[in-house]
Amino acid sequence: MSFDTIIRGARVVTPGGVSTCDIGIEGGVITALGTRLDGAAEVIDATGLIAMPGGIDSHVHISQPSGPGIEMADDFASATRSAVAGGNTTVLPFCLPEDGQTLREAVADYHAKAAGNCFCDVSFHLIVKETDPVTLGQDLPALIAAGHTSFKVFMTYQGLALSDRQILEVMAVAREQNALVMVHAENEDAIEFLRDKAEREGQTGPMHHARTRPVPVEREATHRAITLAEIADVPLTIVHVSNGEALDEIRRGRQRGAKVFAETCPQYVTLTADDLDRAGFEGAKYVCSPPPRTAGEWDAIWSGITGGDFELFSSDHCPFRFADEAGKDAPGARKSFRNIPNGIPGVETRLPILFSEGVVKGRISLEKFAAITATNHARLYGLERKGAIMVGKDADIVLWDPALSRPIRQADLHHGADYTPWEGFDITGWPVRTILRGRTVMLDGAPLAEATGGHIARTAPDVLR
Ligand code: URP
Ligand code: ZN
Ligand code: ZN
Repeated sequence: MSFDTIIRGARVVTPGGVSTCDIGIEGGVITALGTRLDGAAEVIDATGLIAMPGGIDSHVHISQPSGPGIEMADDFASATRSAVAGGNTTVLPFCLPEDGQTLREAVADYHAKAAGNCFCDVSFHLIVKETDPVTLGQDLPALIAAGHTSFKVFMTYQGLALSDRQILEVMAVAREQNALVMVHAENEDAIEFLRDKAEREGQTGPMHHARTRPVPVEREATHRAITLAEIADVPLTIVHVSNGEALDEIRRGRQRGAKVFAETCPQYVTLTADDLDRAGFEGAKYVCSPPPRTAGEWDAIWSGITGGDFELFSSDHCPFRFADEAGKDAPGARKSFRNIPNGIPGVETRLPILFSEGVVKGRISLEKFAAITATNHARLYGLERKGAIMVGKDADIVLWDPALSRPIRQADLHHGADYTPWEGFDITGWPVRTILRGRTVMLDGAPLAEATGGHIARTAPDVLR
């Protein structure tokens, strides 16, 4: 056999286990796994390194409309550069229509924004915020047929939140058209009630973002989302689960026979609501929804990760600049947390945080790491060629140095945000080389200057077939 590239001598993490072997790559595809492979133009000596499937981050926000005067810190170029630096080879951003725009127009815009600007592969989820007959009867079926086989609905955020009836209508389309529904589960009415009360009482600092989105707000909505999915008879993914009570609802739903998938994120095992209480306006850096909880909830989330309750570990990368009126320091943000854009950056730090806190600290195996950061994302969202080091799959491979130790520093990151919530957080184990379809796109932390990624049309999620 001949190869373009051989990766020699890494500990290779495959769905079948971990073994030391060579990986042969030809035409951007993995064509052999074996020992003493030979006959390649390029040989990468990976002795002492771990070869993982390229990370798939199935929950990121890029260039998403965020309200008048507010701008996300990342476009496709900066977000995907940051993604490959952090060991990812595919990201799935959400396509949200601007007010007055149809879903199809929004998707066309996203394709135009992404084209030629991606350092890793991308594939768009949709956000359904209207349930008129054109959206549900024409746009959504056409977009699903074109490979956008998953979409998110919101139970919170004014202008985005759908009623229960609307969610059922969307779920009915998902059932008919073989697509997967993702739900942001927080009860908007309850939040609005608590938010108004907090403002009346003068409790307006960033920490009140967390206090007005307490655990029951998420627990109730999680239960309701699952119940609606049972009524509509569809599987669903509950995204960004932050606490044990919401996770218990997912476990109970599964016991009843509901097909529920669950996602969590680094912020729910490393940050707390106290971070929103940092001096001055610093707490705004940690405002995201659901909010970070308590160290006690970290344990509940870790037990869900180790026990197999979470299929997905994503970043929910949603970057805004801190010192910027188009970002966290939006007009009115210092007067009320209500006006602080929700979201934190994290596409570059997701994998190192999980590797360091999970693998190096002995909480999870290498196989579990690969499953919840890549393989399950590919399976759930219909990325057939991605997510595993296996013959026939795209050669999306990341080499990890498990002994490399350095803290996370904003100065080293590649996103468009001007801060990281994890400044100074100690990490052992960093990705040192990212390979996208056989081509090195990051070396020693530095993304290479060629945007070779593209959009991937997806098939119906594995779980729906
Ligand atoms: O605060 C967050 N997570 N913003 C991003 C949008 C979302 O809800 O995922
Ligand atoms: Zn969300
Ligand atoms: Zn999100």
